[in-house]
Amino acid sequence: MKHLAIIALVLSSFVAQAQEIPVFSRKTPTLKELVPFRLGVAVSTPQVEALGSGSRKEKLIARHFNQVVAENCMKSFALQPREGEFHFDEADKFVDWARANNLAVVGHVLVWHSQLPVWFAKNADGSLCSRETLLARMENHIKTVVAHFKGRVYAWDVVNEAIEADGSYRRNDFFKILGEEYIDAAFKFANEADPDIQLWYNDYGNESAAKNATIAALVRRLKDSGLRIDGVGLQTHVRIDEPSVDAYEDAIKTISAEGVKLAITELDVSVLPAAWNLSAEISSRAAYDAKFNPWPEGRLPDDVNGRLGERYRELFLLFRRYSSIIERVTFWGLSDGDSWLNDFPMAGRTDYPLLFDRSLRLKPWARRALAGQKLRDR
Ligand code: XIL
Repeated sequence: MKHLAIIALVLSSFVAQAQEIPVFSRKTPTLKELVPFRLGVAVSTPQVEALGSGSRKEKLIARHFNQVVAENCMKSFALQPREGEFHFDEADKFVDWARANNLAVVGHVLVWHSQLPVWFAKNADGSLCSRETLLARMENHIKTVVAHFKGRVYAWDVVNEAIEADGSYRRNDFFKILGEEYIDAAFKFANEADPDIQLWYNDYGNESAAKNATIAALVRRLKDSGLRIDGVGLQTHVRIDEPSVDAYEDAIKTISAEGVKLAITELDVSVLPAAWNLSAEISSRAAYDAKFNPWPEGRLPDDVNGRLGERYRELFLLFRRYSSIIERVTFWGLSDGDSWLNDFPMAGRTDYPLLFDRSLRLKPWARRALAGQKLRDR
């Protein structure tokens, strides 16, 4: 009886397989072959340091993706920690490795209020610097950095996170000193540094219609003043249950109506209970609390993993529908073990937001989700 049951089970699974469209029958495709846009991944500083060692992570990145971005090592605190002192070694190693492996490089980021070295917008006594000083520092940073990577980086995030969820401009030091025109200045300097690279504005929280309206107005204003902006990045640090795909579709429509390309620049899907209200503002912090860390052992229950796959599938169905506008989709990390979400906004949690698990195994639903195909029952 037992044998018969096993044979029946095996036979029925053959029948089930035979009825499926044999999409992957010839050879198992790499992830980048499954999508109609560039597929990217952020590379962490420890990963950059290990590049060239032939590690499994390095091989996975080169095999499955065709675009990379540095998770940290091209931010201003890393490139110019003290005024006039540029450190390019790590970023050069990253960019050269990427190019040797046919991975297009996006530069992240020229002007951002976070991970900004203290000297940038301040005087020695800690007060805000003058307009002239800030403009000169921005010009020097942007032009030195962009020129350094000329011909090796195809697009730069020129300004990151300038707008709040309510649609107002963030009162960061740049804004306090220069008003919203700091953004114009940044785009002007970047264009002067290299008219051939793509210039992007990048932000999170695109479920907010108010924020998207301001982003659209910003694009219009820059263009009306004769400045060049090529694209807007939607970071897309989202959760398993929110925001809705419809809200994201609205963002895509509102912003692309201004005649810019879009990119999904920092995709990850947190499965953990919300310890804060969706913001990706990196200064938000919460004290550790075990009730926000339900699966600390590194194994996600099958039903939650299945829902995560469904969520990714829905998102990719949306991105695929807009593939004439969306030029790339970039994951904010390779594997769950690499994700910044394990420590944000609460340190010490175990999140499962990416395509590869902690043992670097591709999640069982990953290929189908990216291809927008129905997931197999688990
Ligand atoms: C994050 C990195 O992933 C972390 O390692 C770092 O400690 C803080 O910054 N929005 C951005 C990214 O534009 O640069 C941030 O990256 C995540 C939110």
